Amino acid sequence: MAGDPDSGRAGARVEELRSLIRYHDERYHALDDPEIPDAEYDALLVELRHLEAEHPHLVTPDSPTQRVGAAGRATFAEVEHRVRMFSLDNAFDLDELTAWSERVLRRLGTGDEEAAPAPNWACELKFDGLAVSLRYEEGRLVQAATRGDGRVGEDVTANVRTIDDVPERLDGAPPVLEVRGEVYLGLAAFASLNAAQEAAGEKTYVNPRNTAAGSLRQKDAAVTATRDLSFWAYQVGEVVGGPDLASHLDTLAWLDGLDLPVNDRSARFDDFAAVLDHVQAVEAARHDLDYEIDGVVVKVDDLALQADLGFTARAPRWAVAYKLPPEERTTTLLDIEVSIGPGGQATPFARLEPVFVGGSTVTAATLHNADQVAAKDVRPGDTVVVRKAGDVIPEVLRPVLADRPDDRPPWAFPTECPECGAGLVRGEGEAATFCPNHACPRQVRGRIEHFASRGAMDIEGFGEQRVDLFVAEGLLADVADVFSLDYDRIATFEGFGEVSVANLGAAVDEARSQPLGRLLFGLRIPHVGTTVADLVARSFGDLDGLLAATVEDLEAVEGLGPVIAASVHDWLREERNRDLLERLRTAGLHLEAADAAGDDVPQVLEGMAVVVTGTLAGMGRDDARAAITARGGTSPGSVSKKTTALVAGENAGSKLAKAEELGIPVLDEAAFEVLLATGQLPG
Ligand code: IVH
Repeated sequence: MAGDPDSGRAGARVEELRSLIRYHDERYHALDDPEIPDAEYDALLVELRHLEAEHPHLVTPDSPTQRVGAAGRATFAEVEHRVRMFSLDNAFDLDELTAWSERVLRRLGTGDEEAAPAPNWACELKFDGLAVSLRYEEGRLVQAATRGDGRVGEDVTANVRTIDDVPERLDGAPPVLEVRGEVYLGLAAFASLNAAQEAAGEKTYVNPRNTAAGSLRQKDAAVTATRDLSFWAYQVGEVVGGPDLASHLDTLAWLDGLDLPVNDRSARFDDFAAVLDHVQAVEAARHDLDYEIDGVVVKVDDLALQADLGFTARAPRWAVAYKLPPEERTTTLLDIEVSIGPGGQATPFARLEPVFVGGSTVTAATLHNADQVAAKDVRPGDTVVVRKAGDVIPEVLRPVLADRPDDRPPWAFPTECPECGAGLVRGEGEAATFCPNHACPRQVRGRIEHFASRGAMDIEGFGEQRVDLFVAEGLLADVADVFSLDYDRIATFEGFGEVSVANLGAAVDEARSQPLGRLLFGLRIPHVGTTVADLVARSFGDLDGLLAATVEDLEAVEGLGPVIAASVHDWLREERNRDLLERLRTAGLHLEAADAAGDDVPQVLEGMAVVVTGTLAGMGRDDARAAITARGGTSPGSVSKKTTALVAGENAGSKLAKAEELGIPVLDEAAFEVLLATGQLPG
């Protein structure tokens, strides 16, 4: 019903999805410059289709679900297709593929009392290029057109004539023959094109599909001619006077006989289980091909049955595109390097020969730690298999051992920090390797960036770039230096006007009055997050109270275990840290816990455990946790039976599900504010 709130929400999302899809259509079809991977685009369409199926009154004739593809820019003459060029529906996994076959069988009445015979299935590769229709009259190529919106495409005849694979004449062809197929750029042609671009100092192309599309739609056919495009035929359009053909694969064989390029990896099966095996075999072998594919097209082979099944508004019912899951590609592991994190952690990562995988070009991927490198046994120079984990983060999966010469040595973790040259260390039984040099420039920058960050001392205008600059200029060597900056020198730096220098000074001054909890968090004491920092600060009241605490005193603080207590105690015992704290004291820092500092907050959450999850509109999650602990509560990182309440912001995930399962009260931001003010849960 149009009036119900659910439908209203769906309506808004449907509108949003349509404009997103139109935008990406334009980028893909008209600009040849897609912004998101195909899988993400497909997901938008799938969501829209689901919503429209649930709310049929929202379907409009101009919805992207009701048409085949976006009409491209009309820079070429229009060609009206005599037989419409349909697109294909997708199946994203074997279940969806099986469900499609079951729909086909139901429609054909297979399995009824008077059972129709089960159809044969034709499987072809789904080539990743762009669809064109070639029109031959009396055996001569007279026109080539892109798909466009399925009814009207663009005349790209001159450009298509430059493709070697496309015959100018066909011997033995009927008076009219329209051949549909895919124009694509083979991987070798793509690589040599990019090599030429590089040699000429020009920008390289991102992927073969877009390059093929761009090449075909050149104004000047002479440019297309330099691109080494190829073509596979996979379907016929209008045919006048052709032979009587009974099946799709017979049609392909006939086209092959006419000397059209027909891929030889198609197969016919009478049993759908064999189709499922076949698509998996194709998936495993996708890299044996020297062109890109993005799936397998499964078609009902019998042309009479195809006619019975017919079409939906967008696609044939007799065919489906099984989309291959996240892509894995091979490339060369150029080297393994180690990057140093802000805490000194040494993380190995792979430098890769650029490879296009899962929608973007990947040049580096993390290898996590020394054990992971050893377990994968990847070695510089290896051919390696790369994948996008969760389609976002590139990952090196394994080496291709067949390509490895016998004498390639295993990689050894460097012994020295690449930033400062200090000897790297790895603790007994620990996965991580560290640079132990406290003065390592990477660590100095990391400590100061953290110190100034929002969750810690919250110094405005003290971002990464400025920290890097000040460290490089020798103005900062540790966090205490933040309070004795040489503003006269800063005023001489590019980009620092009078106002920005004054603002920076004011922000630093303001930070002096931050409570002890924020300072402790800002010091990057191992195992001390915001919650622990607040607990410690409130338990001991001020810095001197804390400095006098024994490890037992620390352990006695509720919420601190022996590991954290020892970590805090050890840190405070280190001479270097003592000196730092004294310098901070001299710099005029407040060094008292929030409630002892005068802004007394009533301890209304005493004994309560309030978990925060999701994104809150009004405050950051760290601030929310700090507000809870400042009122005497705790804010654990996970939901358990002991949790008093869960504060759930936007996009709350598994914690929300867990709280609901355990029957724990879930608060929105308004209820959270009430809780902070009064200690009362709603209801
Ligand atoms: S048949 C009426 N077969 O995939 C059926 N299409 O997502 C028309 N494609 O527009 C398509 N390989 O550009 C068919 N072996 C193949 C294909 C194939 C690639 C493309 C084609 C089509 C798109 C649909």
